[in-house]
Order: sequence, then structure tokens, then C-alpha cells
Amino acid sequence: MKLPRGKSLAVFPGSFDPITNGHVDIIARGLSVFDKVVIAILMNPEKKPLFSVEERVRIIREAYRGERRIKVDTFSGLLVDYAERVGASVIVRGLRAISDFEFEFQMALMNRRLNPRIETVFMMPAEGYSYLSSRLVKEVFQLGGRVRELVPPVVERRLQDKYGPGRPVVEPPRRRPRS
Ligand code: PNS
Repeated sequence: MKLPRGKSLAVFPGSFDPITNGHVDIIARGLSVFDKVVIAILMNPEKKPLFSVEERVRIIREAYRGERRIKVDTFSGLLVDYAERVGASVIVRGLRAISDFEFEFQMALMNRRLNPRIETVFMMPAEGYSYLSSRLVKEVFQLGGRVRELVPPVVERRLQDKYGPGRPVVEPPRRRPRS
């Protein structure tokens, strides 16, 4: 995807197994700064994902149906090579907490060494998503917890398809009004 001159394109790479509202938050922030964002799903044969790459592409496309500034794609090999190929000069990554920092810092500096023309930009999600991860969403859902506010509706439906109907959903306790 080559953009007309002057238009900015950012790559938002990740595993997205599955996409969460934390990702959605970062993508919205990315769209507030860049003209287009490519959501680039890593094809990693070493990982055993819950959703296949094809399923993840379909899920994210459905979540962003009609959004012309978003493109969903897959890549393998070096991220900077992929970014260069699609004409992006920026990689967007989300930073949730200090615990993310060390790995993200290493990746950003390695990517800069590999291709100094590509800049990494970190964005912080809303505080309410600072604890959210794809891994926890899967675990909570599998154990009967509620993930409704944590993922796009299509993800909840696909999780139900994966784990089957009839799985009890534990609703969070209602807050008692203060007297
Ligand atoms: O959602 P994730 O699993 O945190 O995403 C990690 C990802 C896909 C951004 C990272 O693993 C990656 O960029 N992989 C591509 C291979 C690569 O370029 N490696 C060198 C970068 S240090």
C-alpha cells in the first residue's frame, strides 16, 4: 500500500491473539496522529496461537469494517523490512506499564539499528487498559469470566465459537450503592 506523497503511514505490529480494547485504544490514538495505520499480524510458526492468522485477519477486518484509514495485513521476517516495503516510516507500539518498557526499548533500538529510517513511536493506552493483555483475556474467558468490556464484540463471539456454548459466564458483582 503506497500512499500519496505527504501522507503518513504507521505500522502497528503484533500477535493480536486476539485483538483487545487496549489495542483498539492505541489504534485510535495512532489514527489521531497518522493518516493511515496498518495493523500487521506477525506470522510466527513457533507460537501456538488460539486463533489462526487467517482468523485474526478476519476478526480485525470485521472489527474495523468501513474504516478506510485502517489496513489489516500479515507479515513474516523482519518488521523493519515489512515497514519499508509498505512505505511506512513509523512503527507504533503501546506501552502499558514499566514492565513493558525493557523489552520494547530493546526492540525499538534493535529496529533502529536495522533500519534508522524507521522511527518507533510509543503510545500509552487509557489507564483502564493498563492491565489488559490478550493472554489474560483468553484465560479469563476460558475460566468463565466476563470479557465484554475488554474486547471488541466480534472477539467475544469468536471466543464463544472456540470454547463452545454453555460455558458459564461469571458476571462481576454489582456495586452496592453507598448509603
Ligand atoms: O504482540 P506482540 O507479540 O508483543 O508483538 C511482537 C512483534 C510482532 C512486534 C515482534 O515480535 C516483531 O516485531 N517480530 C518480527 C521479527 C523482528 O523484526 N524481530 C526483530 C525486532 S527486535
